[in-house]
Amino acid sequence: MLDIRGLSKSFGGVKATDDVSLDFADGSLTAVIGPNGAGKSTFFNLITGALRPDSGQVLLEGVDLAGKSPSDIVRYGIGRAFQVASIFPSLTVQETMLAAVCADQRRSTVLHRRFPLAETRDRAEHAMELLGLANKRHRTAATLSHGDQKLLDIALALVLDPKVLLLDEPTAGMGTEERWRMIDKVRELWEAQKITVVFIEHDMDIVFKIAPRIVVLCYGRILATGTPDAIRRNEAVIEAYLGTEEHAEAVT
Ligand SMILES: Nc1ncnc2c1ncn2[C@@H]1O[C@H](COP(=O)(O)OP(=O)(O)O)[C@@H](O)[C@H]1O
Ligand SMILES: [Mg+2]
Repeated sequence: MLDIRGLSKSFGGVKATDDVSLDFADGSLTAVIGPNGAGKSTFFNLITGALRPDSGQVLLEGVDLAGKSPSDIVRYGIGRAFQVASIFPSLTVQETMLAAVCADQRRSTVLHRRFPLAETRDRAEHAMELLGLANKRHRTAATLSHGDQKLLDIALALVLDPKVLLLDEPTAGMGTEERWRMIDKVRELWEAQKITVVFIEHDMDIVFKIAPRIVVLCYGRILATGTPDAIRRNEAVIEAYLGTEEHAEAVT
């Protein structure tokens, strides 16, 4: 279980994350929503070690990861999609996958190698298949569509065998059809891998359809958590978020 307790982070006078406590059960799928600037990305950045919390705990199976380095946190089992496809544009899909596993192994030599080298290729293969990239393995990352680049980023997170996968707006910048293709893949891998998935998403049609549980952030605090039905009917959520923006039609 991922157990967040009293997590806080301020930037100057802005409380980007303000005393947030949340549980994510093993194997659960949760959407995080909220207005721009609500602190959604900061919340993820605190969990993955990209930002150091001012206070609070990030407990994964009882081990507090708050303040550890991003690469340590990945090794403990919290994965996230990075924009790697754009960082190594000239590597092929397959090379990118293998590079990710090898880089992780080099970092972990001091402790132990997480995966035998012989297993590396299998793991990369499995992740490519899950994300539908196996038939594009010899394409360079730069020549992939935007959607496939995002899938590659998720495959990279997956290849390191996360217990928890955090996805910050996996459908950002996509058209409607591509969004559904992406989110169907996310759901598929959640079901296949039985991992805990938390994703940030703006499209309320997607959120209400896909996520069994929704967390609403507003001004760095939790405004509500609940099932799609409960969130749809929550007065505070409608007032702060759903009722005010383009999401109105998804509520009806
Ligand atoms: N690195 C940073 N430095 C200063 N302020 C930041 C930084 N990251 C986020 N913020 C501020 O924290 C608040 C939450 O931002 P963010 O987590 O990106 O929101 P969201 O992802 O919900 O749109 C915003 O007011 C934003 O301007
Ligand atoms: Mg954000």
